[in-house]
Amino acid sequence: MNVSEALATRITCRAFLPDPVSEETVRAIVDRARHAPSGGNLQPWHLYVLSGKPLSDLLADVANKMIEAPRGEAPEYNVYPPGLKDPYEARRLKCGEDLYATIGIDRADKPRCIAQFMKNFKFFGAPVGMFVYLDRTMGPPQWAHVGIFMQSIMLAAREIGLHTCPQEAWALWHQTVASHLNPPAEWMLYCGMGLGYMDNDAAINRLRTDRASVDEIATFNF
Ligand SMILES: Cc1cc2nc3c(=O)[nH]c(=O)nc-3n(C[C@H](O)[C@H](O)[C@H](O)COP(=O)(O)O)c2cc1C
Repeated sequence: MNVSEALATRITCRAFLPDPVSEETVRAIVDRARHAPSGGNLQPWHLYVLSGKPLSDLLADVANKMIEAPRGEAPEYNVYPPGLKDPYEARRLKCGEDLYATIGIDRADKPRCIAQFMKNFKFFGAPVGMFVYLDRTMGPPQWAHVGIFMQSIMLAAREIGLHTCPQEAWALWHQTVASHLNPPAEWMLYCGMGLGYMDNDAAINRLRTDRASVDEIATFNF
């Protein structure tokens, strides 16, 4: 698979097969992704990779806590800026509508939307759950660099037939996640990411999101 194919076939997978992915395989992906560039070569990321019992213990803990606190723990950062404006808000709404439409849920049907959202905290059935941390002292440039690292993981996964699901939703459970991983206090959780084999029969994986055209996102002065 070349880079163009990896870019074109990477989608957010929201239903995984239970087939396991070995530690060796994830190590090979991370070994490729660690070549991601970062300003000053800071490499301001740290990844925790869980599978098997450590993962199921964490998911069970979150599921338990969710009964008492369905909204999770106050996130440490704004997943979206307050008062998100258009065109961004319109894109966010359309993405949600299209997502729920794949599984026949009306966006107004809050209980079913919430039930679907809660699948984030099962990593959508992925056999591998990853958590991406960065040092709290890092600013917007370094957050962007962490994103480059994450995209590198996602593309490297595609190359070997795997799919991924980046999940900022995990910011809602940063304290519980930290209680399982024991990261240094100066690190904060940015994002989770599920990794595994895509369930091609799952309707939710049929979502193909829109993109603005080249001329909308780029200005050429040749
Ligand atoms: C950093 C990041 C965090 C995301 N967090 C979530 C999430 O918590 N839950 C989810 O279902 N999708 C999440 N997404 C997926 C986006 O909704 C998705 O990337 C976008 O709609 C484009 O669709 P595509 O990835 O299928 O091309 C996230 C994507 C990124 C890049």
